Amino acid sequence: MTEIFSVTGMTKEEKYQSLVAVAVSLMRGENDLIANMANVTAVIKEVFGFLWVGFYRVSGDELILGPFQGPVACTRIKKGRGVCGVAWEKNESIIVPDVNGFAGHISCSPKSKSEIVIPVSVNNRIIGVLDIDSECLNTFDNTDEKYLSLILTELTGFAELKN
Ligand code: SME
Repeated sequence: MTEIFSVTGMTKEEKYQSLVAVAVSLMRGENDLIANMANVTAVIKEVFGFLWVGFYRVSGDELILGPFQGPVACTRIKKGRGVCGVAWEKNESIIVPDVNGFAGHISCSPKSKSEIVIPVSVNNRIIGVLDIDSECLNTFDNTDEKYLSLILTELTGFAELKN
């Protein structure tokens, strides 16, 4: 894979600062939400090498698989189901240090050990979630939530979202 930029030797915080800058430059001038979601998943995956990085988009009472990088995943998740459906229902980010400790977790890959899900909102309306899976336990913390939320704010800012 061609590397967009080198993050070798950087701290997590420094990697995220570079990631935010690259993500914003990739989205600048592009207002298509799906195209920007696709590139956002690619840069996050490239920088951190997480197992799975992707979006689920709200459609009626369920989430439908959107742009992602990683192994194949389930296509539809009902509101309130799994980590994604609960994050949507509660309108809050969820950090899962050990997926086996989350009642109702939906396993798309046996390799997934920990997970973070962050709602994507436009004008206080949730339009989807960003879901990231790690092959290691305890991967995600408040630093991930802070910078990923920042990228999502940029994402929705660039998108031309009607209705
Ligand atoms: N683990 C998620 C399902 C989606 S996959 O991880 C890609 C959940 O429990 O909602």
